[in-house]
Amino acid sequence: MLYTKKMNLPELDEGDQERALDMAAELLALGGTVVFPTETVYGLGANALDERAVKSIYVAKGRPSDNPLIVHIASLSQVKDIAREVPASAEALMKAFWPGPLTIILPKKEGIPEVTTGGLDTVGIRMPDHEVARELIRRSNCPVAAPSANISGRPSPTTYQRCLEDLSGRVDVILGSDPSKVGVESTIVDCSGAVPEILRPGAITAKMLEEVVGQVFLKTSIGLPQEEAPRAPGMKYKHYAPKAKVILWQGNSPEKVSQALKGKASKKEAVILIQESQDLGEKSASVLNEDLGQQWSQEPSSSELNVDDQGILHGRHFVELPSFEIALHEIFELLRHCDDLGYEVIHVQAVPEEDLGLTLMNRLKKAAGGDIREV
Ligand code: TXA
Ligand code: MG
Repeated sequence: MLYTKKMNLPELDEGDQERALDMAAELLALGGTVVFPTETVYGLGANALDERAVKSIYVAKGRPSDNPLIVHIASLSQVKDIAREVPASAEALMKAFWPGPLTIILPKKEGIPEVTTGGLDTVGIRMPDHEVARELIRRSNCPVAAPSANISGRPSPTTYQRCLEDLSGRVDVILGSDPSKVGVESTIVDCSGAVPEILRPGAITAKMLEEVVGQVFLKTSIGLPQEEAPRAPGMKYKHYAPKAKVILWQGNSPEKVSQALKGKASKKEAVILIQESQDLGEKSASVLNEDLGQQWSQEPSSSELNVDDQGILHGRHFVELPSFEIALHEIFELLRHCDDLGYEVIHVQAVPEEDLGLTLMNRLKKAAGGDIREV
């Protein structure tokens, strides 16, 4: 067990925030491990050039060591220290989307340790759109290798609280900030070949990339078990798995799926429905949170109740997410929340696999471990 220094920045005054960042940056530079916020999900960072430090990331997460890490930077000038060459397509994408939720794979420069790139001759680079992340990298004066800050296989953490749950006692520092804005990990685009290719979908969609670089390749089977040798090695592992069983329901409309699941449940079950998009008007994120909180606190309606012979109440609890953006923002937190509340089954409605829907389905299919059913 390590002693973990926990510092939630919004709870500190300005002076203490400065000291917290300095301390975390110094520990990074000395080979320590630091959990920090980004706009996608929280990351678990170490100096990307320090082999021993990077190894401690794998240990903390329980992560297989052939799974390469993304190297995070704070300024464009750092790219040349990490990548051997930067094709025009990559340069255009950096200009358009950095800082932001896009990881660019490039041929790696000598000197980047094998452990950082899982033995590959390419390296993934990203400049996060989060002031705390960039300030930490700047102050540490090193590129920061960082996977998502969860125990390997669990849903990625989007809040400080979830990082504490997974990694207290396993890392040197946990830095907290607000919940991650995006909610799912970055889009990964491989620019080491002739045509850029999406290896993992994220909030930056194929369409958005195409507007900048013309053609991009995109496999819809990305990261699913049937893909033989996934190009992003991490995609082959079990992912995002809550303790509850996740079932993904094809049918593509909230009405159809809720109709099909109206009947009696034999366990404590959750049903997550997803609207394509709804005008939220003035609804702020906090109002939405309250909304979701209320949806959770309601008892399942009587038509869904079922008492077994031991007198235990079973039922299905319906929660509706009003847009794909919000679904992306909430999904990992919802999966963990269902575990906290003791749900045994989580039913999730499938969505059409394009644009943000593709990103959502990529995470949901993995959470469901292939249990996809027709309504
Ligand atoms: O948004 C994100 O990308 C977050 C935050 C912390 O930045 N990080 C993240 O890291 O999601 P991780 O380790 O959970 O996922 C990294 C993915 C893995 O699937 C890995 O196989 C792939 O990126 N990857 C990394 N380097 C690669 C490379 N050189 N070639 C192909 N895939 C690579
Ligand atoms: Mg991850």
